[in-house]
Amino acid sequence: MEQRIYLSPPHVGPVERRLLLEALDSNWIAPLGPMVDAFEREVCERIGVPYAVALSSATAGLHLCLVESGVVAGDIVLVPTFTFIATVNAVRYCGATPVFVDCDGISWNADPAVARNSFEDLAAIGRTPKAFIVADCYGQCADYDTLLSLAAEYSVTVIEDAASTLGARYRARPAGSFGKAAVFSFNGNKIITTSGGGMVVSEDARLIERIRYLATQARQAATHYEHTEIGYNYRLSNLLASVGRGQLMGLDDKIVARRRNRELYEGELQHLPGLSFMPIPDWSQPNHWLTCIVVDPVVSGTDRERIRVALEAENIESRPLWKPMHRQPLFASCRVYGGRESERLFRDGLCLPSGSGLTTEEHARVCEVVRREFYK
Ligand SMILES: Cc1ncc(COP(=O)(O)O)c(C=O)c1O
Repeated sequence: MEQRIYLSPPHVGPVERRLLLEALDSNWIAPLGPMVDAFEREVCERIGVPYAVALSSATAGLHLCLVESGVVAGDIVLVPTFTFIATVNAVRYCGATPVFVDCDGISWNADPAVARNSFEDLAAIGRTPKAFIVADCYGQCADYDTLLSLAAEYSVTVIEDAASTLGARYRARPAGSFGKAAVFSFNGNKIITTSGGGMVVSEDARLIERIRYLATQARQAATHYEHTEIGYNYRLSNLLASVGRGQLMGLDDKIVARRRNRELYEGELQHLPGLSFMPIPDWSQPNHWLTCIVVDPVVSGTDRERIRVALEAENIESRPLWKPMHRQPLFASCRVYGGRESERLFRDGLCLPSGSGLTTEEHARVCEVVRREFYK
């Protein structure tokens, strides 16, 4: 059996090793320390947003953004149905109810027309969402001009779930610079990783300080442990921040490598009947986190599941696109606006191996298996 090709494995080098050893040697092993401060500063510089707090995950960041937006039990929060479950779990942690909005075929992010319909429909029954989490999908930003002005019409707070979009842009603006706050993920399959980690960034200094405080068990400024409200243990450790700093230095190279992945796949596969790639609208500069294809079962004579199984048989990891949240048993009773587009993407879509360390030979192995399924 040939060596396994993973979907999006970590890709670290000597810089991460050096910084990690520096952190170890400094004895800043315990949570927090100079690497955390530097990592926060460097992410701010990278995206041009002034304040940041490093956390244990993006899920934690989404949770605390919602807490600080005043989301409580009984509230509703608008979320895209085409996302990873973490976006929605954060809503449930607050006891609030998610309302799902379908994606469009333009960027696969929240469809502005469906979102407008959901705001109008909810208003007609006397409800306004407490917040709208706009989740950028598969390394590509949502249509922020339209979605932000829509949310402003209804005075609804927007939180950007930028878990996958570090380094991407919407028009000239970097992902992470939209809404009241944005959240990045550094989990193991992201474009840069700290093994597990996340960060909230914002223009709002007070918001970031509140999140920093809540994430540190809501510890009051006292020599003993003094607490007046519920807090969380959500901070990133100094050791992991050192890895993040090294990864961030290599972000541009990783974007180049992941763009090359997509270009190589396009070159080899785009002529196949019924096969298409995630669309990239003219306002989008994705970071190409994952290369995603859609296989029309009628035109192609095959389907995404047959391709996935064939890849797996050759020891190649691929993954269906997200199963829409409104189709998850967990959220079956939740309200959804639209849903057809995300259902189609789940039925027909596949993420191909997209790591920044993928070799030309590995590409060739993947393309060979995909092509073979079309000519059976
Ligand atoms: C859209 C989206 N939101 C949130 C998350 C959660 O990130 P984390 O694993 O850092 O909590 C992910 C992770 O894959 C994601 O894809």
